[in-house]
Amino acid sequence: MIFGERIRLRAVEREDLPRFVEWFQDPEVRAGISLFMPMSLVEEEQWYEEMLKQDPIEHTLSIDVHQGEEWTHIGGCGLFDFEPQSRRMELGIIIGERSSWDQGFGTDVVRMLLRHAFETLNLNRVALRVFETNLRAIQVYKKIGFIEDGRLRQDHFIDGQYIDVVIMSILCAEWKSIEKGEG
Ligand SMILES: CC(C)(COP(=O)(O)OP(=O)(O)OC[C@H]1O[C@@H](n2cnc3c(N)ncnc32)[C@H](O)[C@@H]1OP(=O)(O)O)[C@@H](O)C(=O)NCCC(=O)NCCS
Repeated sequence: MIFGERIRLRAVEREDLPRFVEWFQDPEVRAGISLFMPMSLVEEEQWYEEMLKQDPIEHTLSIDVHQGEEWTHIGGCGLFDFEPQSRRMELGIIIGERSSWDQGFGTDVVRMLLRHAFETLNLNRVALRVFETNLRAIQVYKKIGFIEDGRLRQDHFIDGQYIDVVIMSILCAEWKSIEKGEG
């Protein structure tokens, strides 16, 4: 388990899967991710079985937030596509409970993942892909210190139009200088 001040990141349990399926039905959540067909619980269960076969460092984590005396499951996140020689991975996050947006949880989670990436996994680079239309997510990543590497022009088709996919990244040295307050 990875603990922050009000967030914990833990292994995904089978009981979490129906919540993920419910979140994936929400058009506003789906607008930020590459999911365009309705998803069933069976498909999610198949994804879960496949995920468990991956290297543990690539496992998706459930995001819980501490509310009152309880931990509430609000989303999922993780690092994937580990490249050992270059020590880089990609980051993904979804906060599925829309009522939990804009409370700083996404920012907290990404910072926790970066600390894990750089201080536990000893990565050198963490990158991500974000749709140019996903202004909330881009604001989170910029605020944390991600820099735009470039764009895959018209790489994604959604709502009848092509949009760019923005590639952003942060390096270990940049993260350390931000953590020291020099960034
Ligand atoms: C993207 C996501 C992770 C952000 O999580 P969150 O908990 O809402 O993020 P935070 O509350 O930490 O920060 C949101 C920031 O975006 C800002 N914001 C909100 N709406 C915005 C908009 N339309 N334009 C620009 N900024 C916006 C907020 O003001 C806040 O910035 P601030 O702290 O500088 O004021 C979450 O909304 C989510 O999971 N969305 C669906 C899935 C998704 O898009 N995943 C990312 C794929 S790359």
